[in-house]
Amino acid sequence: MTDSQFDHQAIRSQFPILDMQLGDNPLCYLDTAATSQKPQCVLDAMNEYYVQNNANVHRAAHQLAARATQKYENVRMQVQHFIHAATSQQIIFTHGTTESINMVAHGLTEQFQQGDVILVDGAAHHANIVPWQALAQRTGAKVIPIPLDSNGRIDLTAYDDLLTQLPKLVALSHVTNALGTLNPVNEMVAKANKVGALTLIDGAQAVAHLDIDVESIGCDYYVFSGHKMYGPTGVGILYGKLNALEILTPMLTGGEMIKTVSFNGTSYGELPNRLEAGTPAIAEVIGLGAAISFLSNLPKIQIRQHELHLIQYLQQQLSQLGDISVYGVTTDNDNIGAVAFNLADEHHQDVGILLDQQGVAIRGGHHCAMPLMQSLQIKGCCRASIGVYSNQQDVDRFISALTEVKSILL
Ligand code: ALA
Repeated sequence: MTDSQFDHQAIRSQFPILDMQLGDNPLCYLDTAATSQKPQCVLDAMNEYYVQNNANVHRAAHQLAARATQKYENVRMQVQHFIHAATSQQIIFTHGTTESINMVAHGLTEQFQQGDVILVDGAAHHANIVPWQALAQRTGAKVIPIPLDSNGRIDLTAYDDLLTQLPKLVALSHVTNALGTLNPVNEMVAKANKVGALTLIDGAQAVAHLDIDVESIGCDYYVFSGHKMYGPTGVGILYGKLNALEILTPMLTGGEMIKTVSFNGTSYGELPNRLEAGTPAIAEVIGLGAAISFLSNLPKIQIRQHELHLIQYLQQQLSQLGDISVYGVTTDNDNIGAVAFNLADEHHQDVGILLDQQGVAIRGGHHCAMPLMQSLQIKGCCRASIGVYSNQQDVDRFISALTEVKSILL
């Protein structure tokens, strides 16, 4: 699919920041996996909320509060439909993926005991590792990483073997943030369900690129952030099966989440409010709603093909450059949104800084996935990642900037 087969420029032009000039160079943004840029409609929705509807939700009797509450609750339903959840009660607003996972890990403390096994994707982001380690520390459970193959992908045979230990919980990435690896979550969740394990899927890197159907995945929890799907920072989602949410002890307590409070005892309210203590990020939730509308109005098939074509073009151009190691790419062509690489033995930060001097924004580092880096036997790498607005010119500019970096460093 080439850009000319649909009006890609009409999509790109909705992102004002992409016209930015950085010194002498126009911005070439290839760091969408860290955070996506925001379309004008998201900025407008948040601005409109503050200018026309600003009030706290669920509290007052006045009209503004009713309007704000309705807009906020409408987004809950939008999220429900977007990820194909059965009811809006299953959609909890959080401040992001990290908070969502912490809420689950904290909330399950009373369900875990000494010796319980938690299987964690060996390529997971730290946000999907550390909360389980903290849960294990509190309860005496043990965290076992699911081994990876030489491409940094989950070793499915090793996974099958580990399931014989009857884990209490399995935590997976839908798409890994460092390499863009798509995991076969449907199959892995089905196997975990068979042995009675709870399952949590980190969907932070998946929601902007794939259709998410939580019912068909069959997981107990699915979590993601607004800012990686063209929405604002500071808002995220915890989806759960009703019984899986009901067993969570609230991590935050206070206003909004209670039924009655007295000094003789307090009772908690129903889902979803029970897990949403305090004033939520109202403007950000409304911005997330606008981002979902934006995504839902895109020509889905064309945009998926466009992204796939760009990633393959990026991989191909990188391999033609020479002196490049690319990580996690297989013949399956199932890398989503990102390509990780190193230039010879050069430090990823040096490469990143020299690219930045030419206006090209990529991420370099361990990508909050140190165990994966250990498994690949590298300290870190560079990662170029794309979004719906990225085009072939971005890739060409990146490759020409990297060619320049190569001539400086090698
Ligand atoms: N999790 C974000 C990334 O992968 C920050 O870059």
